[in-house]
Amino acid sequence: MKGGEMLTVTLLLFLAVGSGVLAEPVKFADCGSKDGSILEVNITPCPTLPCLLHKGVSYSVNVTFSSKIESQGSTAKVFGEVMFVDVPFPLEEPDGCKSGIKCPIVNGHSYSYLNKLPVKSEYPSIKLIVKWQLFDDQEGLLFCWKIPVEITG
Ligand SMILES: *[C@@H]1O[C@H](CO)[C@@H](O)[C@H](O)[C@H]1NC(C)=O
Repeated sequence: MKGGEMLTVTLLLFLAVGSGVLAEPVKFADCGSKDGSILEVNITPCPTLPCLLHKGVSYSVNVTFSSKIESQGSTAKVFGEVMFVDVPFPLEEPDGCKSGIKCPIVNGHSYSYLNKLPVKSEYPSIKLIVKWQLFDDQEGLLFCWKIPVEITG
C-alpha cells in the first residue's frame, strides 16, 4: 500500500470509530442466563455507561448468545428496575423468533437477537437499570442481562 492510501484508510477507520459505526460491546451484568450464554451485548449508540437515553430516540439492541438447549420458540421480557422494583416495559415485538433469531433454536448454535428500545418523550428523566430477558419454551432463560441507563431530555 502506498503512503497516501494508507493515510486514507487510517482516516476512514478513525471516522468509523468516531461516529460509532464500529459498535462497542456494552459491559453488562448477567442476571441468570442458564439455557444460553451471552457472547456480546451491543446497544447503539451507547459509548459509555450508564447509557444516556434521549427521549424520542430509538436505540438498537443486538444480543449475541449461544444456546445450550433446543427450543421451538422464544419470548422476550424487558423491565426497568427503579429502586429495586421491576416495572414491565412493553415491547412492540416480544417474539424472539421475529427479532433476528431463526427458530427453532438449536443446541450449540449462536444467534443475534435484534430489537429496538424506543425511549418515549413521556418517560421521566431518571436513572434506572434495564433488564432484558429471553425465555425459551421451557420457561428457562436463554439470556438475562442488565445495564444501567439514564433517561435524559
Ligand atoms: C450483532 O452483533 C454481532 C456480534 O458483534 C455481529 O456479528 C452482527 O453483525 C450484529 N448484527 C447487527 C444486525 O448489527
